[in-house]
Amino acid sequence: LTDTLTLVLLPVSALWLLPQGVVARWACARACPPSCSCTPERSCSVLCDRAGLADLPKEFPCEASAINLEKNRLRFLSERAFGTLPSLKSLSLGHNNISFITPGAFKGLTNLVDLSMAHNEYISYLHTRTFTGLRRLVRLDLSDCNLFNIPDRIFIEQTALKELLCFQNNFRRIPGAIRGMENLTHIYLEANKIEAVAYNSLLGLSSLRYLNLQENRINVIHDQAFQDLVQLENFYLNDNLLSDLPGLAFKGLTRLKMLNLGGNQLTNVSNTWFSDLVELEVLYLDRNQLVSIEEGAFENLTSLITLHLNSNNLTSLPFRVFQPIYFLGHLFLFKNPWTCDCSILWLKDWMENYKLVRDIPCASPSSVAGLDLSMVVFAKVNGTCIDPSELNLTTASLEVLSTTENRFNSLISKLLHKELREEMGNGTESLRNETLLAEEEEQMSAGVRGPWAHSYGPLLYAPAAGLLFALLGP
Ligand SMILES: *[C@@H]1O[C@H](CO)[C@@H](O)[C@H](O)[C@H]1NC(C)=O
Ligand SMILES: *[C@@H]1O[C@H](CO)[C@@H](O)[C@H](O)[C@H]1NC(C)=O
Ligand SMILES: *[C@@H]1O[C@H](CO)[C@@H](O)[C@H](O)[C@H]1NC(C)=O
Ligand SMILES: *[C@@H]1O[C@H](CO)[C@@H](O)[C@H](O)[C@H]1NC(C)=O
Ligand SMILES: *[C@@H]1O[C@H](CO)[C@@H](O)[C@H](O)[C@H]1NC(C)=O
Ligand SMILES: *[C@@H]1O[C@H](CO)[C@@H](O)[C@H](O)[C@H]1NC(C)=O
Ligand SMILES: *[C@@H]1O[C@H](CO)[C@@H](O)[C@H](O)[C@H]1NC(C)=O
Ligand SMILES: *[C@@H]1O[C@H](CO)[C@@H](O)[C@H](O)[C@H]1NC(C)=O
Ligand SMILES: *[C@@H]1O[C@H](CO)[C@@H](O)[C@H](O)[C@H]1NC(C)=O
Repeated sequence: LTDTLTLVLLPVSALWLLPQGVVARWACARACPPSCSCTPERSCSVLCDRAGLADLPKEFPCEASAINLEKNRLRFLSERAFGTLPSLKSLSLGHNNISFITPGAFKGLTNLVDLSMAHNEYISYLHTRTFTGLRRLVRLDLSDCNLFNIPDRIFIEQTALKELLCFQNNFRRIPGAIRGMENLTHIYLEANKIEAVAYNSLLGLSSLRYLNLQENRINVIHDQAFQDLVQLENFYLNDNLLSDLPGLAFKGLTRLKMLNLGGNQLTNVSNTWFSDLVELEVLYLDRNQLVSIEEGAFENLTSLITLHLNSNNLTSLPFRVFQPIYFLGHLFLFKNPWTCDCSILWLKDWMENYKLVRDIPCASPSSVAGLDLSMVVFAKVNGTCIDPSELNLTTASLEVLSTTENRFNSLISKLLHKELREEMGNGTESLRNETLLAEEEEQMSAGVRGPWAHSYGPLLYAPAAGLLFALLGP
């Protein structure tokens, strides 16, 4: 009965929808096209991928819900290339050799939701009416084609579009066609040649949650370029040519969870950039040329979990810069020319308490160059930390430290801890019992001991000076 119904009903609907001449050639079929296979259900998937097709099959099953034509040798699409397929939801034309698409090629695919034309390296031009009739389109993939631009009005009917994938093309600016598309949630524009983000490039994209602009040539961002992106959660601006950002570039982006500014040419981090990013969890500032971070720069990042500052030109990290961050899970600081003097002592303490920071190689002072911060022993005289290079008396001993390296260092570190325990808790017992000592030490470093800033006291460093003097002898 179902078959009979299909036979009777479908040609009628096709006739009703199509102009006369086209029906003759494109009435949809019940049979699966030659060189394709079709899944058995009524709303079938038509699989024609890797079939060596140079031309489109003449007919597709009327009830087809998906057609896969990937990895063939298709070169061009005529008007109404697929006839009328009212059930078609998904069409893949990726990895072909399409160079020309006749305006109206997709007319008749009124319910198409997902169209992929990625990896057609000869598509360099699209007509304004290319997508005419695709009123339900939600996802459009034009990645890895050869597009230099697209007409401003090309998406005039695609008001339902949510995802636009255009990475790996030759765009030199953000296509004006996306302006005002309030339903767009995801835009992929990475690996193009975009040079600037103008004040109106991203206007009206009020639903956008994901924006990828990485690996372009962006060197200018207008003051209010991002002002409408109030729902943005993931933002990739890495690997561009940014040497500065407008003071209020990210103003109002209160939903932002991840911001990637890595691989640019930034030198200073302004304390205005991130002031509204209260939900930011991951911030990448790696692979820039940062020399300074303004006080308060991270002040309002109360949700921050991971901060990437590695591979920059940072020599110091003022305590004030970090003070207000309540919780940070990971801090990446490697590949910076750190000056391991007293100003960075707090960081060493933080490292030891929380084990959230690793790998802080010292570039100076010369007495500790090459050592990791965790290996540097800071001396204190009368409660004041003495910078390694300034402590004349210890110059010799510090040289010993750097030359005999880690073995000696960890020995000293152990001795220091022992002395510390002694001072803290009258530990004649614990001095005699190594097992006990080791256990205590584990507990101390594993447990989180209240606000870390407060655990930093003169007591902790007092024994260091004593020991260093003792080593030198009278
Ligand atoms: C693909 O199309 C281009 C331009 O139309 C043509 O020069 C090239 O030979 C085609 N390649 C193949 C493999 O068909
Ligand atoms: C967004 O989508 C809704 C529902 O699909 C539609 O009514 C509305 O017009 C669209 N907005 C725009 C700006 O196209
Ligand atoms: C960056 O900061 C340094 C030191 O604070 C300052 O000398 C320099 O002018 C600043 N550069 C820029 C581009 O703001
Ligand atoms: C942090 O947020 C508050 C409240 O929004 C604001 O007044 C302050 O200026 C911000 N701090 C920084 C350093 O931007
Ligand atoms: C950062 O360091 C690199 C290599 O050491 C140097 O070429 C560059 O000029 C430095 N940049 C700044 C802003 O200091
Ligand atoms: C440490 O303080 C004591 C007493 O205040 C003083 O006599 C001594 O000279 C100081 N030592 C150093 C190295 O400043
Ligand atoms: C450190 O050594 C230099 C040169 O040997 C000397 O001029 C200076 O007075 C010394 N400083 C101290 C605090 O001993
Ligand atoms: C350590 O022992 C001495 C004398 O044995 C005592 O006066 C002192 O209060 C003790 N300190 C602690 C921290 O228990
Ligand atoms: C050291 O302490 C541990 C744990 O309290 C105990 O089992 C061990 O017998 C002690 N060793 C000595 C030599 O006192």
